[in-house]
Parts: sequence; structure tokens; C-alpha cells
Amino acid sequence: MARMIVVDRDGKQHEIEAKTGLKMMEILRELDYGVAAICGGLCSCATCHVYVDPQWVERLPKPQSDEAELLKELGDYRPATSRLSCQVDFTEALSGIRVEIAPDS
Ligand code: FES
Repeated sequence: MARMIVVDRDGKQHEIEAKTGLKMMEILRELDYGVAAICGGLCSCATCHVYVDPQWVERLPKPQSDEAELLKELGDYRPATSRLSCQVDFTEALSGIRVEIAPDS
């Protein structure tokens, strides 16, 4: 188990225990305040959009082109910190990462 800090859409911060080896989206969709993840991780819905804390974002592998293109279409896209959580593996090395659930767009 590792830790994740999740900021919900009301700005409330939650510290959760999370299993590694899952996509970040698979953890976040289980939370009442988490993501909808409608497409189930196929990189087509963008309802798993999160903002990764700037201190952590460089530690993630860069987005693939399909993720990057989908992100750019979003009204709430933030070039430096936006990610689709279904495209990010939650590993032990990311324990303590802070992510904010992006608004519904
Ligand atoms: S769950 Fe649909 S794009 Fe991530």
C-alpha cells in the first residue's frame, strides 16, 4: 500500500491508502469524490482528468500522443499539470503524490 493525497472538487484534501500496480484512475474512481472514468481507461472520455501537483508532475512518464491530444481539447486543460489518470500507473515511487480532481467539463 502507498499513499495518495487527493483534493476533491470542493477543495477538500483527503489522504488515502492506495494499492500500487493499478492505474491511478482505478483508485480515484472508487472514491465518492473521485473521477467518473466513463470509458474505463480507453483514453477516450477524459472524465478521469486530474491536475498533478507541480512537484510531482516531472516524475511521471510523459503523456502519449493520444492522451496529450485529448487533454488539449478540454476547457479546463492546464498544460503543465493536466493528466488523464487512466494513463498513469500508480507505483510505489509515487507514494505521497498529490492530485486534484479536475472540474467536470
Ligand atoms: S477513463 Fe476515459 S479517458 Fe481516462
